[in-house]
Amino acid sequence: MRVLVTGGAGYIGSHTLIELMAQGHEVCVLDNYTNATPAVLTRVRALSNGKIADFKGDVRDPAMLDRVMQDFAPDAVVHFAGLKAVGESQQKPLTYYDVNVGGTLALLHAMDRADCRKIIFSSSATVYGEPDYLPYDEAHPTRPASVYGRTKLMAEQVLTDWATAAPDRSAVILRYFNPVGAHASARIGEDPKDIPNNLMPYIAQVAIGLRQALTIYGDDYDTPDGTGQRDYIHVVDLARAHVAALDYTCKTCGARPFNIGTGQSYSVIDMVRAFERACGQTIPTQQAPRRAGDIAAMQANPARARAELGWQATHDLDAMTASTWAWQSANPKGYDAC
Ligand code: NAD
Ligand code: UFG
Repeated sequence: MRVLVTGGAGYIGSHTLIELMAQGHEVCVLDNYTNATPAVLTRVRALSNGKIADFKGDVRDPAMLDRVMQDFAPDAVVHFAGLKAVGESQQKPLTYYDVNVGGTLALLHAMDRADCRKIIFSSSATVYGEPDYLPYDEAHPTRPASVYGRTKLMAEQVLTDWATAAPDRSAVILRYFNPVGAHASARIGEDPKDIPNNLMPYIAQVAIGLRQALTIYGDDYDTPDGTGQRDYIHVVDLARAHVAALDYTCKTCGARPFNIGTGQSYSVIDMVRAFERACGQTIPTQQAPRRAGDIAAMQANPARARAELGWQATHDLDAMTASTWAWQSANPKGYDAC
């Protein structure tokens, strides 16, 4: 299939390009490079030995979208382009609604004009909010606690209404749990521009000497060791979920959400210990109070994705930490050195 990948130069998008091309799909990227560099696509091309059409532009720009639709004529769209920092979303709510909801609306309008009827959307486990029960299944109530989470839920609602308003439309909503890890080549990986908000890139930067110590936010949660638990998923498994979702859109109409996680969860201390095994060093840590807005534990029930998409995660925790360390140690300054 011909697949337009918005935000394809980003962390998850770049890994997904490789998996899509490996399955024979033709790909095209639309990215405005607010959180990426064109060097990513150079590396993806080298890794996959494939052609990638690319456009520099904003997903909210109708003229740019029409140009991409006309030049590339996609059969389907994978929509990664968006803003993802929870803290920043509280400071800049209108920017987040504009990019994450407005961008999705603009994209769907352009798809309608081009008669493109299949979309896969990057949503987040954060749409669930404080759990009534764990693991979350897709029927769990949705009550996101941040602006970011609300933009994702709103975009899900827009996609669902779009997909059900006419026959032959298909929207697959993938609710990612916590993506970590890097491609086995160590040529692409996560490259946060500022101080990392997320656990795994922070630990990796401590290990490489860019930061002094990991701050552990909270040791008094109702979890076995008192630190927060999450369902970490290897980014290559996550990328493959998009390939499975693409096949699914060819067989189905309407909208459907899927949890994309492993079904296992690990604490902050588990992650530190696993990273220490991978890098052979001790990771210095310091204790701090809970981070505002954090919940104790999150865990996916991925049964629906297994049954209906035929997808399940195959990489374990050691594969996640080893590939993160391989990427970080081979690229201490990320893509900056390019
Ligand atoms: P990322 O920032 O690495 O990738 C997003 C890409 O979109 C970047 O290349 C950026 O330059 C581009 N972009 C941003 N705004 C754009 C715009 N207006 N027009 C065109 N391009 C634009 O993030 P990621 O981690 O790869 O996440 C991809 C998607 O998955 C996002 O929608 C994010 O909200 C979602 N998601 C991420 C996580 C996570 O922890 N990484 C978890 C759940 C969901
Ligand atoms: N943590 C620390 N120290 C840090 C960073 C994180 O102790 O420096 C802890 C957090 O308190 C939490 C755990 O590590 O207990 C994971 O935190 P992350 O920031 O890595 O991940 P979150 O679960 O908070 O959020 C991430 C993304 C969201 C996404 C969500 C999906 O940032 O965008 O996963 O589950 F929605």
